[in-house]
Amino acid sequence: MYRTNTCGELRLADAGREVTLAGWVQRTRKMGGMTFVDMRDRYGITQVVFNVETNPELQEKANKLGREYVIQVKGHVAERTSKNPKNPTGDIEIIADELNILNASELPPFTIEDDTDGGDDIRMKYRYLDLRRPAVRRNLELRHRMTMETRRYLDSKGFLEIETPMLVGSTPEGARDFVVPSRMNPGQFYALPQSPQTLKQLLMVSGMDRYFQIVKCFRDEDLRADRQPEFTQIDCEMSYVDQEDILDLFEGMAVHLFKELRGVELKRPFKRMSWDDAMRLYGSDKPDLRFGMQFVELMDIMKGHGFSVFDNAAYIGGICAKGAATYTRKQLDQLTEYVKRPQIGAKGMVYARVEADGNVKSSVDKFYSQEVLQEMKKAFGAEPGDLILILSGDDAMKTRKQLCELRLEMGNQLGLRDKNQFACLWVVDFPMFEWSDEEQRLMAMHHPFTNPKKEDIPLLDTDPAAVRADAYDMVINGVEVGGGSIRIHDSALQAKMFEILGFTPERAREQFGFLMNAFKYGAPPHGGLAYGLDRWVSLFAGLDSIRDCIAFPKNNSGRDVMLDAPAPLDQKQLDELQLEIAPEPEK
Ligand code: AMO
Repeated sequence: MYRTNTCGELRLADAGREVTLAGWVQRTRKMGGMTFVDMRDRYGITQVVFNVETNPELQEKANKLGREYVIQVKGHVAERTSKNPKNPTGDIEIIADELNILNASELPPFTIEDDTDGGDDIRMKYRYLDLRRPAVRRNLELRHRMTMETRRYLDSKGFLEIETPMLVGSTPEGARDFVVPSRMNPGQFYALPQSPQTLKQLLMVSGMDRYFQIVKCFRDEDLRADRQPEFTQIDCEMSYVDQEDILDLFEGMAVHLFKELRGVELKRPFKRMSWDDAMRLYGSDKPDLRFGMQFVELMDIMKGHGFSVFDNAAYIGGICAKGAATYTRKQLDQLTEYVKRPQIGAKGMVYARVEADGNVKSSVDKFYSQEVLQEMKKAFGAEPGDLILILSGDDAMKTRKQLCELRLEMGNQLGLRDKNQFACLWVVDFPMFEWSDEEQRLMAMHHPFTNPKKEDIPLLDTDPAAVRADAYDMVINGVEVGGGSIRIHDSALQAKMFEILGFTPERAREQFGFLMNAFKYGAPPHGGLAYGLDRWVSLFAGLDSIRDCIAFPKNNSGRDVMLDAPAPLDQKQLDELQLEIAPEPEK
C-alpha cells in the first residue's frame, strides 16, 4: 500500500496513529537538529519531521531531498508545538521513521506554490507543474463539481446526455471553422463543430425530447480573456417548449448551480431587458448590472450651442458617477487617454462636476450657459459631488460602445464591480440579423436556425433588419454565460431564412439539406440554449481569464506552448493527405 492517508487528511484526533503518506516535496527547512518537509498532494500539505537525535541517518537522507521529489514517509502523527492555523493539517505533524524516495525531480522551473515566481509563459510551457499549484487545482475541482451538478440537475429534469460527432461538415456561418483533411476522401475536409446546433435539432426530430451534452466546441476566431479556440458548452435542446419554458428551466439551473457551488441564493425571476434597451442604456448586449450609471442621451440638450464637436455628432450621451466630483484634473486626463486608446477609439471626453452649491462646472463652459448645464444635470438626476462624463461621435452605435467601456472603467475605479456580488439578467428580443461590413450582407445575429418573432414575420420581406428573434442570452456581471433561441421547425421558413442570408437554394441544400429534409418528417417545435462552461467556472472562481479553469489552455495566439501546437506536418503525412503547402505570398 503506497499510503494510508492523503496529505490533507490528518487532524489532531489522529495523534498517535501510525501512517504512511505519499506525495511531493514542496519545501524542506533545516532548523537545528530537525528537518521539516512540507509534503504535498492533491488534498493538502502535511508537515513531516526528521529528527537527528532519534534517527540521524534518516535526517541526513531528508536533507538531500530536492523540491518536487516524490516520496513516501512512514511515521506517527503528533501534535505540533507551533501550530499553523492557516493549514487544515496545521495542528499536527508526522514524526518520520522511514523515508522512501519514489522518484527524484529536477529543480522545477518555478516554485510550485500559490505565490509562484513563474511568469505566464513558463507556467503554460510546464502546465503539468502549474497544475500542482493548489490555486489552479482548485479551479479544476470547481469545474468538476460544476459538471457533476449540471448532470444532476438536467437528469432530474429528464434530459438525456447524448454525444454528437466531432468530425462534421463545415458550416461557414458564424466564426471560421477548424478543418480536418480526410485521407480516405482526398481533397475533402471535415470541420470540427462550432457547436452541435444542427445535430441537437435533429435529435429533437428523432423524438429525444430533452437532450444535453457537455461538449467541446471549436471556433477559429480572435481570442480574448473570455474566448478560447476550443471551449466547452453545456448544450441543451428541448421539444414542445416556448421561450418562457426555456428561460424558466435554465434560470432554475443557474439558481441550483449558485446554491450548490457558491452557497449564494439568487432571487427569481431574473431581470429581463430587451436588446434595444441594453444597447440604449448600457451600449452593450451584456451589461454589467452590478452598478447603475445608465446612459443618458443628451442630443436635445447639448446640440446647437456652438460647440462644433457636439453640433456635428450623431450621438451625444453620458454617464453620471456618483460622488466622483473629487476626481482630479490628472485623473480626468487619464480617463480621456483611456477612451482615446485605439481599442476604444473615442475622439475625446467632456466632463462636468456638480459643485457643493449645485452649480455645474464643465470642461466646455465657454459654449454652455449655466442654464443649459443645469438642464443637463437634471437629465442625469445628478447631485452635488457627482461627476458627469460625456462622449459624442458620428456613429451612434460606435459611440455607445465607447461609452460602455468608459462606464465599465468607472465601475472598476469606483470599486463597483465586486466579484462576490452577482447580477443576473436575461437579454431578450435580439434582432434577427446584423449587417456585416466584411461580407456586405445581413448575417444571422444568433444563428440561421433561430425563429423570428411571430409578429415580425411579415417584416422578413419588407424590412428584414427590423425583425426581432426569439433569442435570449443569460448575462451575469457583464459576461454572456449562455445563449439560445426557439428554432425554426418549418422547412419553408428555414429556406426563406437562408435566402435572406444570401444563400442560393443550391448552397443552402448543399450545406443544410440534411436539416431541411429532416424538417419534412414531422419536426416538433423546439428550442434550447448553451451555457459556456468555462465562463461559468471563471465566474464562480472569480477569475479574470477562462484560461485559468482549463487544464491545458491555448495562449492568446491560439498556441499550445506545452505541446508546441500547431506545427508543420511531415512531408509523408502531407503526401498521404494529398496536401501541398502554398509558398508564402510575397510581401
Ligand atoms: P453561442 O455561440 O452563443 O450559442 O454560444 C453559447 C455560449 O458558449 C460560450 N462561448 C464561448 N466560451 C468560450 N470561448 C468561446 N470562444 C466561446 N464562444 C461561445 C458563451 C456563449 O453564451 N448553438 C448555440 C446555442 C443555442 O442556440 O442553443 C451557440 O453556440 O458563454
